[in-house]
Amino acid sequence: MTIAASYAEFAAREARGVSPGYERLSLAVSRDEELLALLGTLPPDKRQPNLLFGVVRLLGGPVDDPAAFREFTAANWAAVEAELHTRATQTNEPGRCAVLLPVLAALPQPLALLEVGASAGLCLYPDRYAYRYGEHVLGVGEPVCECAVTGMAPPSRLPEVVWRAGLDLNPLDVTDPADVDWLDALIWPEHEHRRARLRAAAAVAAADPPLLVRGDLVDDLPALAARAPAGATLVVFHTSVLYQVPAPRRQAFAEQVRGLPDHWISNEAPEVLAHDGLPEPPGEALYNVLALDGRPLAWTRSHGQAMTWFAGPGSADAAAVG
Ligand SMILES: C[S@@+](CC[C@H](N)C(=O)[O-])C[C@H]1O[C@@H](n2cnc3c(N)ncnc32)[C@H](O)[C@@H]1O
Repeated sequence: MTIAASYAEFAAREARGVSPGYERLSLAVSRDEELLALLGTLPPDKRQPNLLFGVVRLLGGPVDDPAAFREFTAANWAAVEAELHTRATQTNEPGRCAVLLPVLAALPQPLALLEVGASAGLCLYPDRYAYRYGEHVLGVGEPVCECAVTGMAPPSRLPEVVWRAGLDLNPLDVTDPADVDWLDALIWPEHEHRRARLRAAAAVAAADPPLLVRGDLVDDLPALAARAPAGATLVVFHTSVLYQVPAPRRQAFAEQVRGLPDHWISNEAPEVLAHDGLPEPPGEALYNVLALDGRPLAWTRSHGQAMTWFAGPGSADAAAVG
């Protein structure tokens, strides 16, 4: 796919209906020969819309007006290029805990959580956040992760977590303001509620930072899993990670994680982690598939804002023990 086509596709499939600003910006870049030529000088993995827009935001550039964005980006290309080379898209969305929670709460407690592709580890605190599933509220304090649930009863308890660890090629540090600023810059402009959620979750994590190990999800998983305490249910999980992993390595990861004891939760796009017999998704938007031990359970929206349980047992308890 050309760079122009990838920006046009981002506008149509990812930003439309979610971020009007990024939809406009992405379309404008897809038609801008000068910016496309500059992007063409970068390695392929450094050309993505999310990365470019996040870097310009981090540098204080405008992202609400395509003409101003263009002027800033071209005039400050040396600084933009330097940041593009050092940064990666590592959006850490604690809201995704809302779709993990029904499964986590239904497993035998207590839990030892091991997240691969953890970024700053904000999804490692599902027991410390509050949730609102329609009228049903669970937990106290901030952040409150809201999720519209269809086809299942919301969870009635929080999980008990006795160990939490993350593995990432480039772990971010929630106690470092520069890393939190980068996570903030990755949040799309109109999503103020996500910005507030990030700051609240970062405060929770910074008060008791997680064990984060720099490493690869295939090569370094067994050693980290071996550090989990006995007497707890080990849960290896990942959300929105495998699209960044080359296909043969995804396969190797899936084979490896199936060989580990206890449980595996995945929340990934069906294009990168395939499942047989999926029902039609509930809409046109991009959806992830939530699965337990390779068994698909629900469609989930990318920031954890909604989940549609597949027809079947109707509760995560049945899925967990079934
Ligand atoms: C989009 S972020 C998602 C972070 C988190 N899972 C969430 O849902 O908020 C993807 C993360 O996966 C990490 N990652 C990509 N490839 C990886 C690999 N081979 N091994 C470990 N981490 C990887 C990236 O560094 C990045 O932090």
